[in-house]
Amino acid sequence: MITPIRDNGRVNDADQDTPDTSNDDLETSAADDSAGASKGSRLYPRVTSFRSRRGSLTEPQQGAWDRMWPKIGRDVGDDLIDTTAWFERDAPLIVEIGSGTGTATAAMAKAEPHVNLIAVEVYRPGLAQLLQLVERNELTNVRVLRGDAVEVLEHMVAPESLTGVRVFFPDPWPKARHHKRRLLQGPTFALIASRLKPGGVLHVATDHAEYAEAIREAGDAEPLLTELDWESPMTHERPVTKFEDKAHKVGSTITELIWGKIKP
Ligand SMILES: C[S@@+](CC[C@H](N)C(=O)[O-])C[C@H]1O[C@@H](n2cnc3c(N)ncnc32)[C@H](O)[C@@H]1O
Repeated sequence: MITPIRDNGRVNDADQDTPDTSNDDLETSAADDSAGASKGSRLYPRVTSFRSRRGSLTEPQQGAWDRMWPKIGRDVGDDLIDTTAWFERDAPLIVEIGSGTGTATAAMAKAEPHVNLIAVEVYRPGLAQLLQLVERNELTNVRVLRGDAVEVLEHMVAPESLTGVRVFFPDPWPKARHHKRRLLQGPTFALIASRLKPGGVLHVATDHAEYAEAIREAGDAEPLLTELDWESPMTHERPVTKFEDKAHKVGSTITELIWGKIKP
């Protein structure tokens, strides 16, 4: 069983939540601005699946950021990543989209030292908490990317280069008028599928029943994805994060959805 990495008796997200996931108060402003001006609108226009939030770093987080970001972090850009150079080794590559505070990222990286793991997140305090975990636990197989995961996949990740993609608890955008902001819709499935190697795996978890059905429908409709009927190249075990724990406490059912990229 994979459990969150504990540090002096607390998990890294004990004091600071991931960004607002209810999306209740959003009308337009920040998210729409960033959508319009975003580089993500270059290939196909879309509204962003995240809300722009600043969030300041605590002093220890800032310290970890200053020490670790230059070594293992980078911002979204236009160039393909040379992952062999970045990780200083060749290994199966997994991208986690929306890593939040990095609780699952760090625990899974520790459990799978043979994989290279890239965490993509827009929320800087969350990335800083992951950097703290990476530093304290001397994890060498994690790299962090700050930016919109759609842009990262479009521009920085080569086609058919990923062994796995993980999306744990994507923001549900529960109001009908905000559904267009949901990350996991047809175009994102097509993009993810194009970046997976044949036989690679997409693993999604959500606590939102209606979004789960929409995700299932969109994933099943993607022609490059199919039911996984071969041995997965990555673990499907997840540690329970604070976020997921809250979902359990209010009685939400967690839906796990797994697809494989069709083999030739
Ligand atoms: C509900 S939180 C879940 C965090 C974490 N996966 C967990 O299970 O605790 C969703 C996260 O996805 C991030 N996010 C949403 N859209 C994103 C995007 N397009 N690119 C990168 N991160 C995104 C948000 O900033 C937020 O931290």
